[in-house]
Amino acid sequence: MSKIQNQLKLAVAKAALAYVPDQEIIGIGTGSTVNCFIDLLGDQQAGKIRAAVASSIASADRLRHWGIEVIDLNSVDKLPVYIDGADEINCQLHMIKGGGGALTREKILAAASTDFVCIADSSKLVEHLGTFPLPIEVIPMACNYVARKMASFGGKPIVREGKITDNGNVIIDVHNLVITDPVSLETEINQIAGVVSCGLFAHRGADVLLLGCNSGVKTLLPYSHS
Ligand code: 5RP
Repeated sequence: MSKIQNQLKLAVAKAALAYVPDQEIIGIGTGSTVNCFIDLLGDQQAGKIRAAVASSIASADRLRHWGIEVIDLNSVDKLPVYIDGADEINCQLHMIKGGGGALTREKILAAASTDFVCIADSSKLVEHLGTFPLPIEVIPMACNYVARKMASFGGKPIVREGKITDNGNVIIDVHNLVITDPVSLETEINQIAGVVSCGLFAHRGADVLLLGCNSGVKTLLPYSHS
């Protein structure tokens, strides 16, 4: 990661602090941008939230390191906000996520939260999703079956070597997909037996994107054609 990209991640992490409500429980995602956010929160505002629900063991460990309580989603009635990164995001705030392999728990937290605040550097904003290989979490016995199905969609599936998710499953990264309709493709992939979840976040995209650019942090809302 370049020094500039790192600075942009820090800038969006800092901007995300303004979206943290006082004395609530919030959802926190996974990845290097979120790590910047956790470190800022822990260092400057650890007492601001009551607790966090984390999308991965790695993020939970990092939060605990800062003395922030991590609780189970089942003990929470509401999550006002979920803060997470993305591997790619378009102007409708549909995303590809799962580069870190945490996509299933990320999808659950995104679904359970009122607002999804995505934090990303400018390299993540794309016109069309799909240059970043689409991660799919799969029950191990269905790996070859799901890979064949994804090949029939025109993709090149590659099993992520040595990766077992926090849920005990495998990840298939699907390269070369032409994603013209992210919502429909997400629905189709979700129908394949053995798929736990796919890294397309289109049905439930982000509500706001904090995008780190050389000129500063831009706040983007989902583009609507109307
Ligand atoms: C992890 C994710 C991350 O949000 C995504 O990979 C972005 O990570 P980073 O902030 O390191 O670029 O989906 O599963």
